[in-house]
Amino acid sequence: MERTFSIIKPDATKRNLVDPINQIIEKNDLKIIASKSLKLNKEQAEGFYKVHKERPFFSSLVEFMTSGPVQVQVLEGDNAVSKYREIMGATNPKEAEDNTIRKLYAENIEANSVHGSDSKENAETEIAFFFSVSELL
Ligand code: CMP
Repeated sequence: MERTFSIIKPDATKRNLVDPINQIIEKNDLKIIASKSLKLNKEQAEGFYKVHKERPFFSSLVEFMTSGPVQVQVLEGDNAVSKYREIMGATNPKEAEDNTIRKLYAENIEANSVHGSDSKENAETEIAFFFSVSELL
């Protein structure tokens, strides 16, 4: 059993896509073991995406991620990290496979509906960024 971290981003929450996206997640045998809605502040968004702070899209990304509510979630299942990345599809929806979340719902490379951890180590760090131990029992 493995855990990964997911964010359903503001472009998706504003179009009421939390339930449809979660149906895809569950259909693929990932269990949603924790879930909450929150609005990120600038410091949280900058901290979460700090590995990208030198990238040209960083300030726009922070503005987008703070523009509305997000749904932060912990997903559990066999090979959860790689499985969720497969279900999400490529970062750029133009390159995403058919029936992936981003192919179905993303608006563009920035407003791409979902985030998922890219490694087990980052999953642990990202989960700890948003959830306390008692929320994950
Ligand atoms: P995510 O998987 O959350 O990781 C970093 C995010 O930055 C990414 O999804 C997109 O929302 C955004 N992003 C990545 N590349 C670009 C880009 N070239 N232009 C704009 N936004 C990007």
